[in-house]
Amino acid sequence: MEGGKTVRDKLLALLNGSDGSFISGQEISDKLGISRTAVWKHIEELRKKGYKINAVTKKGYKIEYTPNSITADEINAHLETKAFGRVIHSFDQVASTQIPAHEAAREAAPEGTIVVAEEQLKGKGRLGRPFHSSKGTGLWCSLILRPSFPPQQAPQLTLLTAVAIAEGVRKVTGLPADIKWPNDLLISGKKIAGILIEMQSDPDEIHAVIVGFGLNINHKKEDFPEEIQDRATSLALEGNQPYNRAVLLAEILKEYEYWYFKMLDEGFDPVREKWESLAVTIGKQITAVTSKKTLQGLAKGITKDGVLILETADGKIDYIYSADIHE
Ligand code: BTN
Repeated sequence: MEGGKTVRDKLLALLNGSDGSFISGQEISDKLGISRTAVWKHIEELRKKGYKINAVTKKGYKIEYTPNSITADEINAHLETKAFGRVIHSFDQVASTQIPAHEAAREAAPEGTIVVAEEQLKGKGRLGRPFHSSKGTGLWCSLILRPSFPPQQAPQLTLLTAVAIAEGVRKVTGLPADIKWPNDLLISGKKIAGILIEMQSDPDEIHAVIVGFGLNINHKKEDFPEEIQDRATSLALEGNQPYNRAVLLAEILKEYEYWYFKMLDEGFDPVREKWESLAVTIGKQITAVTSKKTLQGLAKGITKDGVLILETADGKIDYIYSADIHE
């Protein structure tokens, strides 16, 4: 677990920010306020962690290879937020990141704390479904929030989360990530991410919201179980290149923090507008399968609380709170 930026985080940020050119030991030493021997010791530490750093006399240091890991060091090196991701619990393997996140939330973890893992053995999806979370391929993350609004407003966070992920993915990869109501993200009609929101609350007060999101990043087709291979995709499959998971997480957290505090200040409207601009569901003829019935009609939009508005063939308006959507 780590909070705030350490010297090593700042060193990594400097090395990552040098755009492939060398940065001299003296410049690093001046910028970080440490001796050149200390700089060298930190470089050695990074090498032990799998970074390949080229050191050339009179030129300085240059990163040749960054391990594509989701450790606190790597995340911190890219993080530009105030609160989100400033406390990190990272694991190699967990049943589900939601479990340690719930524990941390009960133990007064500050808002913005995240739990990440390289691999989940029992990733949880919506409605008790399993969520495939293979080792080293994706972003399996739970974020702790402590919003001041009442529990009834919590579903808005699903839409906000979708906006943050779609915007983060679009900014880092340029790929057209779309939102499918309520909590899936798609590229070319295939799922790249899912969202699971859980709450610790009293009837009229939220203690914590645990926002779980999973994003498929560097999967090859065969990394997905056969039964979902035609429905799931990854950023690497869509963009034909691998992506750095920590960079993606840092961007998603930056977007999340921006939209979350905007929502607390200005209400849900700006988030709703942004969501509608990114959503593929709206304006389409859909089938909504709820736990009680199946409805068909035109998805007209969402209410101010994020509830889907469906107009059936006879002109009747239905409000859908939770459903699986098919086109
Ligand atoms: C869904 O698509 O049904 C929701 C998937 C949510 C998956 C994420 S991955 C991180 C967090 N930990 C879990 O066990 N689930 C969520």
